[in-house]
Amino acid sequence: MNNLSVDHLTGIKDLSKEDIDLIFKTADSFKEVINRPIKKVPSLRDITIANIFFENSTRTKLSFELAEKRLSADILNFSASGSSVKKGETLIDTVNNILSMKVDMVIMRHPNPGAALFLSQKVNAKIINAGDGTHEHPTQALLDAYSIREKLGVVQGKKVVIVGDILHSRVALSNIYCLQKLGAEVMVCGPTTLIPKDMHLLNVKISHNLREALEWCDVANMLRIQSERQEISYFPSLREYSMQFGLNKEILNSLSKEIVVMHPGPINRGVEITSDVADSKQSIILNQVENGVAIRMAVIYLLAAKIDR
Ligand code: CP
Repeated sequence: MNNLSVDHLTGIKDLSKEDIDLIFKTADSFKEVINRPIKKVPSLRDITIANIFFENSTRTKLSFELAEKRLSADILNFSASGSSVKKGETLIDTVNNILSMKVDMVIMRHPNPGAALFLSQKVNAKIINAGDGTHEHPTQALLDAYSIREKLGVVQGKKVVIVGDILHSRVALSNIYCLQKLGAEVMVCGPTTLIPKDMHLLNVKISHNLREALEWCDVANMLRIQSERQEISYFPSLREYSMQFGLNKEILNSLSKEIVVMHPGPINRGVEITSDVADSKQSIILNQVENGVAIRMAVIYLLAAKIDR
């Protein structure tokens, strides 16, 4: 298969296993490119991409921008702060104005779940979801699974626990879809209040005991508490959360086998993970960031192939 089955990347839910395999195969080639002295290919010289971010971002925004530059695309950067969104302009009007400048593809982060899908149905450009509220963050899940494959050889059959604020996490949902499509077993672990009530419908294991979850897994993906999305308290204090669900060296060293530690970032050091774990040999956090560029190059390249030129 040389083509994606989708015209936009709004979520992992819509991708087939073959789509994910194709993205990984393409990312393998781009990873080789970005490790060369000349890290650039001319593939998208005729393509213009707008990065429109209605929410804060460090990794995703920079990673997409670098991926676009490595592919030789022309780039427009838009952030909602400082834009006419503050004067009441709608999402569709904002994007249609950007598209009238002959833009071919839009990478969007937005606080509303479903915003990327909505846009893909309303405008004439390829859309990539860079995170839509608490819904999906597809390129994060792709780079996470790719990093597991790189570290452990395969994803099929591996046991992955996602620990933390599952309720407010787009990374958790996209990871669950992606890992299951690739044949991994998934567990979520956290306080009862931070695990959605219908989680069992996604065919994942559920634990409220960090040690038990870590003994079960091959890989632990530690998530931060998304305080900015919490209007009420879900646990007594960050200190108590950290005592029950924070990953520290003492727990890690006491496990019966060596596990791989991941985190999508941004890290809240001392809350969900201690510095000695985040910076340890078992952590692949910075490999995830490196792989993010290759994965995003692959997704952009494969969707650009579907543009009528
Ligand atoms: N992992 C991630 O989405 O990080 P940013 O919010 O910094 O983009």
